[in-house]
Amino acid sequence: MTATKGLEGVVATQSSISSIIDDQLTYVGYRIDDLAENSSFEEVVFLLWNLRLPNKLELDAFKKELAENMEVPEAVIDQLRSYDLSKVHPMAALRTSISLLGLYDEEQDIMEEEANRRKAIRLQAKISTIVAAFSRIRQGKEPVKPLKDVSYAENFLYMLNGKKPTEIEIEAIDKALILHADHELNASTFTARVCVATLSDIYSGITAAIGALKGPLHGGANERVMKMLSEIGTEDNALPYVKEKLANKEKIMGMGHRVYRNGDPRAKHLKKMSQELTTLTGQEKWYNMSVQIEDYIKNEKGLPANVDFYSASVYHSLGIDHDLFTPIFAMSRVSGWIAHILEQYANNRLIRPRADYVGPNTQEYVMLENR
Ligand SMILES: CC(C)(COP(=O)(O)OP(=O)(O)OC[C@H]1O[C@@H](n2cnc3c(N)ncnc32)[C@H](O)[C@@H]1OP(=O)(O)O)[C@@H](O)C(=O)NCCC(=O)NCCS
Repeated sequence: MTATKGLEGVVATQSSISSIIDDQLTYVGYRIDDLAENSSFEEVVFLLWNLRLPNKLELDAFKKELAENMEVPEAVIDQLRSYDLSKVHPMAALRTSISLLGLYDEEQDIMEEEANRRKAIRLQAKISTIVAAFSRIRQGKEPVKPLKDVSYAENFLYMLNGKKPTEIEIEAIDKALILHADHELNASTFTARVCVATLSDIYSGITAAIGALKGPLHGGANERVMKMLSEIGTEDNALPYVKEKLANKEKIMGMGHRVYRNGDPRAKHLKKMSQELTTLTGQEKWYNMSVQIEDYIKNEKGLPANVDFYSASVYHSLGIDHDLFTPIFAMSRVSGWIAHILEQYANNRLIRPRADYVGPNTQEYVMLENR
C-alpha cells in the first residue's frame, strides 16, 4: 500500500453536482460563467439540490421558503452573547452555532429524504442570520430580524447593516454567493461526505465542513488575502513584499490551486467586480495591488489566482469586516455541502480508506514500573 499525499489525483466518489474539466467549472453541466452572469443564488441552490433549473413558479416558491425560514431560535442568538466576541473568530462561532442549531431542530435525527430536505432549507436560511447576528452583537448592536420578501443576498446585507442595501451591493453579494456555491470534491465537501457516510445527521456534516473551511489553505484564505493587502499598504510596496515572502518560502494567500492549472474560472468574475467596486468606492489601490501580485506570481511561479484572491477586495469594498469573509463563503458553500450530503445519503457506503503504516515494527510491551 502506498499513500498519495493530500490524495492528489485520487478519484474518491462519483457525483452529478459539479465538475472541473480542463479548467472549466460547471454546476450540473451549466457553465459557471453563464450562471454568474444570468442566474440568482437561489436559482443555483435549487439547481444543486434538484439537479435541474427551476421554472419561475418553483423559483418564487423556493425564495419564499428560504426567506420564511431565516429566523433563528433565540437560544442560538443568546449563545453568541455569552462569549467575548472580540476574542472569538466568527468561523468558530458559526461552527458552534450550527451544531447548536441542530439541537433545536426536532427532525435532526430523522433521516428520511423529505426530512433532510426540510432541514436543508432551514440550514441554508438560518446560516446567514447567524453570521449577521454575530457581527451585530460584536458591535454592541441588536440583531436585525430577516425580511420575508427579499432575496437571500439582500436579506443578508439588511441583517448585517440594519439598512436596505443598494442594488450594486446586492448584485455583488449575489454573484459572489453563486461563484462559491459548489466546487466538486474540495476539502470541506469531502469532509461533509465522510461525516454523513457514517449515517450521521446533516447538522454534523455541516458542522464538520465549517471546521474544514475555516483553515487558511481552504476558505480561510480570503481573510488572509486582505490581511496581506493591508500589510502591503501601498501599491509601490506590493512587489517588494511578495518577493520577500517568496524568498522566505512563504505562501501568497489566494494564489495556487490543487486542480486548476491555468486559471480559476471564478477569479475573473471577482476580478471584474473588484475593479468596479474599488473604483466606485475610491479604493482602487486594493485592486491595483492585487493585479500586480497576480501577474507577478503567475509569471514567477506559474500559479493562478484562485476564488479567494479577488473576493477579498470585493468584500472589503462593501465595507464588510475581514473576518466575516470566510463565514460568507460558508453561507454560500453550505448549498454545495447539502447537495453532496443528499447525494451521499442517496447512494451511501461508509468512507473508510487505509493508511500506509510507517511507524515502528511490532514491539514488546514494557510494564509501567519498568519504564
Ligand atoms: C491551494 C493550495 C493549498 C493547493 O495546494 P497543493 O496542491 O497541495 O500545492 P502545494 O502546497 O503542495 O504546493 C506546490 C508547490 O507550489 C508552491 N505554492 C503553492 N501555492 C503557493 C502560493 N500560494 N504561494 C507560493 N507558493 C505556492 C508550493 O510552495 C510548492 O512549491 P515547492 O514544490 O517548491 O515546495 C496552495 O496553492 C496554497 O496553499 N495556496 C494558498 C492558500 C489559498 O489560497 N487557498 C485557497 C484555495 S481555493
